[in-house]
Amino acid sequence: MTDQLRGELLDIALEAAQRAGELLRDGRPADLGVAATKSSPVDVVTEMDIAAEKLITGFLAERRPHDGILGEEGADSAGTSGVRWVVDPIDGTVNYLYGLPNWAVSIAAEVDGETVVGVVHCPPRAEVYWAVLGEGSWRNGERVRCRPAPALDQALIGTGFNYTLRLRTAQAELVRQLLPRVRDIRRSGSAALDLCDVGGGRLDGYYERGTNPWDYAAGDLIAREAGAVTGGRPGEPAGPGLVIAASPGVFEELQPLLDELGAWRG
Ligand code: IPD
Ligand code: CA
Ligand code: CA
Repeated sequence: MTDQLRGELLDIALEAAQRAGELLRDGRPADLGVAATKSSPVDVVTEMDIAAEKLITGFLAERRPHDGILGEEGADSAGTSGVRWVVDPIDGTVNYLYGLPNWAVSIAAEVDGETVVGVVHCPPRAEVYWAVLGEGSWRNGERVRCRPAPALDQALIGTGFNYTLRLRTAQAELVRQLLPRVRDIRRSGSAALDLCDVGGGRLDGYYERGTNPWDYAAGDLIAREAGAVTGGRPGEPAGPGLVIAASPGVFEELQPLLDELGAWRG
């Protein structure tokens, strides 16, 4: 992959995220309601999720008509160029619905199946994170690095809960066991921002079971390029079964502990 292609993909991802962010910030109806539900009654979609995905996929198709696109709200095309975009138009929809600030537009570009660019834009925080494979991570143009690792019992760990009852019941049991062994737990409501916050030094680690590529593709690259380690169960890459991201020393302790406690169950 050439530097020119990497630069082009980054510019396009940044512009798409910027445009969708403006639509979401300025166009949010005061009486915003739920348009549909998906995996469970609490897994909601608003008209703005759909409008933002439409804007992003239209923009990407105009700029790079031969690329594939996978979007949470239904976009799914293979493309012929070897490039695929992985898009979550709003990561943190429940926060967006309630008017809470932790939501973001997440866009990743893969080349031949490998994520090479990640952009996560959070208008309410006036922050855009981005990363390019092998080149580092930035927040609003400033290089970011993950935090120096504390011992696990001093670590601030983010997590999230799946929308399905079966998984969230198992996740509640896991948190019960993990909480006494760490500094504290945060549940922000946006997996993409949790991963960025590991990269940006605002969390020591993050884990979650049951997320999808659109939740973690961009944020995983941003965390890794900021010096964090990411993965799944021991020996496995991050994936829907489990995503873990943490400063290197925290990761070493957190990954085996999560495995022992059964973070992959449910
Ligand atoms: C959700 C958020 C949340 C995580 C869920 C995701 P959505 O994405 O990232 O933090 O816990 O697993 O599904 O539904 O807001 O796009
Ligand atoms: Ca999401
Ligand atoms: Ca979403």
